Amino acid sequence: MEKIIEENKQGTSLVLENKEGNSKKLFIESYGCAMNFSDSEIVASILANEGYNTTQKLEEADLVLVNTCSIRDKAEQTVRKRLEKYNAVKKINPGMKVGVLGCMAERLKSQFLEQEKIVDMVVGPDAYKDIPNLLKEVDEGRDAINVILSKDETYGDISPVRLLSNGITAFVSITRGCDNMCTFCVVPFTRGRERSREPQSILEEINDLASRGFKEVTLLGQNVDSYLWYGGGLKKDFEKATEMQKATAVDFAQLLDMCAIAHPKMRFRFSTSNPQDMHEEVLHIIAKHPNICNYIHLPVQSGSTRILQEMNRQHTREEYMTLVDKIKTIIPGCSISQDIITGFPTETEEDHQDTLSLMEYVEYDFGYMFAYSERPGTLAARKMEDDVPEEVKKRRLQEIVDLQQKLSHKRTSRFLNQTVEVLIEKTSKRSDAHWSGRNSENVVVVFPKENYKVGDFVMVKINDCTTATLIGEATGYSDMN
Ligand code: SAH
Ligand code: F3S
Repeated sequence: MEKIIEENKQGTSLVLENKEGNSKKLFIESYGCAMNFSDSEIVASILANEGYNTTQKLEEADLVLVNTCSIRDKAEQTVRKRLEKYNAVKKINPGMKVGVLGCMAERLKSQFLEQEKIVDMVVGPDAYKDIPNLLKEVDEGRDAINVILSKDETYGDISPVRLLSNGITAFVSITRGCDNMCTFCVVPFTRGRERSREPQSILEEINDLASRGFKEVTLLGQNVDSYLWYGGGLKKDFEKATEMQKATAVDFAQLLDMCAIAHPKMRFRFSTSNPQDMHEEVLHIIAKHPNICNYIHLPVQSGSTRILQEMNRQHTREEYMTLVDKIKTIIPGCSISQDIITGFPTETEEDHQDTLSLMEYVEYDFGYMFAYSERPGTLAARKMEDDVPEEVKKRRLQEIVDLQQKLSHKRTSRFLNQTVEVLIEKTSKRSDAHWSGRNSENVVVVFPKENYKVGDFVMVKINDCTTATLIGEATGYSDMN
């Protein structure tokens, strides 16, 4: 693999990995969650063996792939606009092929091919290894589609090509699919049953990243705390495992421990945690290792126990609060972020107030907040009326966003006059003279460049802050270097 350092529009140096001798050009775009971005790297790797190198210029592509998100209607509309754009380019460049990957491919199946006729290929999240065959079908003028979901595909044997990487931070997926069936969520339908990837292949991928100079890995899954490897098979079939398999099973706490021990000079993050599956053992492992970041993304969705039940979340408001108390005791200073949905069917003003008061209780550092968007096929869409008026959803969302702003500012202020460890990721967007990185708690930190370089772990004294950013000055290297 040859590495090409390119300057992108923001002037950040990016690494594009290309394979010598490849002559065809792949333009691949990703929308939605980190898992989609990670999957696109797997797809690019599969296509690198088929003669394709990636390009950032749509107009010169032989193959255009879009990895899609179905989580909210708006996400789907964004992808539709992109498909229109690709088709406009295709008019000028008729040899170009267009394929749709990911959740929309899985949800809409043959619709893009047969009814709408706007793509050449449709590939669901578990069928990426079939892309070389599907491309042959496209060449032969046939509709190419594979949306079969798998019980065991984890792509553990594929070494991903890092796309537009800063060469420092990377995602490594550890589970696929989700078994939770939250009533609002389309993911279990588009990404299938939950599977865990073999620990050895996870560690090998991390070893490879370490040898190439990467310094931070985020372990990815829809629900990482539910990770369980016992020699193959679905999580839900663990009961049927042999005694030997049970004795040698690896859970999330053990996996984190293994990673942190294997690479003491690398930072580890993980996403996403589901409150119902997050156990104390994981918290102790985070507390034990300085190289596991003090940051937990812990979606709550609602602060009302009644709404949580309607959402089929497997915990109450009080259980969530108890978990947060445990996090704060076991990992002092740990930052916590949320996902919240506002305006779920039947949500009253009182339920909304419960969400606001829970936010005050937790003092979230960050948040990802959304108005409820009904998704076809989900249990909520089938059984419940989307009865909270749009303007009420909007107003409640604004109140939640405003409160989060206030909490975020309060939480960034706590770092004032402290010295924090930062991994330098890139040049700051606002100033060429400053580096940008994050501290363990996942807050962005900017500071004058001096003689430091991308990939250095640096101690930074914080002098100022905004809602989302800390501003400081380096005081020297940290002992993570
Ligand atoms: N466990 C997953 C959650 C995936 S969906 C993870 O790894 O992040 C991400 C977030 O989108 C959810 O936590 C939820 O807050 C939001 N979301 C999911 N379905 C939604 C819907 N129908 N309307 C609005 N927001 C939704
Ligand atoms: Fe969706 Fe709930 Fe799984 S939000 S991804 S069904 S944990």
